[in-house]
Amino acid sequence: MKPDKVLVVDFGGQTTRLIAKTIRALNVYSDIVAHDDIPSASDDIKAVILSGGPKSVTAPDAIRLDPAWVELGVPVLAICYGMQAAMQAFGGRVEKDPEGREFGKATMRIHHKDALFEGLAKEETVWMSHTDSVVALPEDFITLATSNRVLAAVRHQTKPIYGVQFHPEVQHTLNGKRMLENFIRVIAEAKATWKIERIADNLVEDIRKAVGKKRVLLGLSGGVDSGVSAVLIDRAIGKNLTCVFVDHGLLREGEAEDVLKRYRSQYGLNVVFVDAKDRFFDALSGLRDPEAKRKAIGKTFIDVFTDVATQQGPFDYLAQGTLYTDVIESGAGVGATIKSHHNVGGLPEKLGFDLLEPLRSLFKDEVRELARALGMRESDLARQPFPGPGLAVRMLGEVTEEKLAIAKASDAILRQVFDETGTVNDVWQFFTVLTDARSVGVMGDERTYGYVVAVRAVTSSDGMTADWARVPHAVLERVASTIVNRVEGVSRVVYDITSKPPGTIEWE
Ligand code: XMP
Repeated sequence: MKPDKVLVVDFGGQTTRLIAKTIRALNVYSDIVAHDDIPSASDDIKAVILSGGPKSVTAPDAIRLDPAWVELGVPVLAICYGMQAAMQAFGGRVEKDPEGREFGKATMRIHHKDALFEGLAKEETVWMSHTDSVVALPEDFITLATSNRVLAAVRHQTKPIYGVQFHPEVQHTLNGKRMLENFIRVIAEAKATWKIERIADNLVEDIRKAVGKKRVLLGLSGGVDSGVSAVLIDRAIGKNLTCVFVDHGLLREGEAEDVLKRYRSQYGLNVVFVDAKDRFFDALSGLRDPEAKRKAIGKTFIDVFTDVATQQGPFDYLAQGTLYTDVIESGAGVGATIKSHHNVGGLPEKLGFDLLEPLRSLFKDEVRELARALGMRESDLARQPFPGPGLAVRMLGEVTEEKLAIAKASDAILRQVFDETGTVNDVWQFFTVLTDARSVGVMGDERTYGYVVAVRAVTSSDGMTADWARVPHAVLERVASTIVNRVEGVSRVVYDITSKPPGTIEWE
């Protein structure tokens, strides 16, 4: 039986994903759908939430609310732009707020008792972000709550159709989660049966059904997403899955061996190892510009992968660790693991793969929970992001054997010191960057003239923004002295104290 589902209609708001995520965390499945992708009514759809959006509903090109969403006959909660679009559709009036944009905290006063507000006080802190407001309600709608400036919450007199001007999905609306919970559990009566652990079996079954006896190829990077996809697909189809691990020679010390050991011995996967170091080095020869380096690596990767696919093939499916956040178009439910004839990452269309994306309905933290349910090790899930082009973008300028050796050795020392001092637990990502600068030093009685190595350590929650980590001076001192003493060719170590923005996390 399908789990109850809440559809979040996307009007382009920045927090649309957060709405879906909050509902899933309440164990009700939630999917984001495009505003014009209206499904037919079905028993599993329990509610519709209309998201916020960046535009004005009064603009000539504004997206209107299609009444078909309301005609599905399930409870509707319209948020911000969604509320304005709904009120407009029902015959109310929306105008630009004369006081200008309202952004930030506001106090909402509740005038009407309603199931939406169960467990809340008469006054609540809510978070607003809007330029227009509803100035006249449609017939049949009543005001449930107001703030100093606007109608904060409204509802239809007889039907469970709600509008809120504030954003219940953000944490600054202190009881926002409670309101969403009231809406989906009490008003929409959605059953809290969706559990990420339980979907492991469903996903395995879906893959088995979709793929049948056909063969699947998967590029294994050692990262969480491709690793979890591999374990999941292996569970479904076993030997018909071939994983390919391409070693471009730009991995951290010991990484290739580590990935192979984990996925071959520990998880028992069929992994083809390709040593393509020479091909990548040839392609990078003479290149100094970061974008040129990235492009050369991307192209070589595709060439190598294509060769392997041809030698080991034929394959019917290419598996990818695409996550929900990567999915631009909406509408993919738990069972929708297959999308046909896609051309992703530049893989030539003529290879004729269909695409298998078992994680495309999951958020990153849900993938981690799924991996736990699959019995994967914690250390495999907590892995730091590592850029596809590897150490090539962590050594400025041309990639050479000499620089690669320095980059690997200094990074290994940083990792060891951060491990031993427990610093790993306080930072989100860390690595060394081999700069292209040289500086004078003195060792013993000798003058040295070696490379400058930068240490980058940041705190972050998603890599979109980051702050430099306040690593204790004693730890930094140990890193610096160990690198300069042990890695030949390095005369100086500096610490990067740039946040993102304006810097990026990687240097190239
Ligand atoms: P930036 O440098 O843009 O990096 O602040 C943000 C996050 O993305 C990682 N990153 C990459 N990951 N392929 C990847 O898979 C890449 O080409 C790539 N470049 C950057 C980076 O390590 C950081 O976590």
